[in-house]
Amino acid sequence: MILTLPQTDSGLFATLPESSSRPLLLLNPVVENLFAMADVTIRMRPDGPFVIEGPFQLNDSEGNAFPLNPDKPAIALCRCGASANRPFCDGAHKQCGFESDERAPAE
Ligand code: FES
Repeated sequence: MILTLPQTDSGLFATLPESSSRPLLLLNPVVENLFAMADVTIRMRPDGPFVIEGPFQLNDSEGNAFPLNPDKPAIALCRCGASANRPFCDGAHKQCGFESDERAPAE
């Protein structure tokens, strides 16, 4: 069992007080998010949006979360600036002449 608790002084592991000497794995929200981030993939579509797949939360500049449909496996975020539904892509990149197809360095 994994419990999510505030960060402890001793790091990720703590010992249960008095009633047990068994170590208990504690994950603070930051560490928990690192595990979740391992399952997130961001793909660039040629001349189009960023497509994000996996468990994530999309927050505005004040930290408020955009409602996302949990049944959708991915969302597309506008990177051309022409969407009328920003931050989401609405397909306007096809009409505005947006061109971008950067490539990651070869390994
Ligand atoms: S990337 Fe699709 S509308 Fe901007």
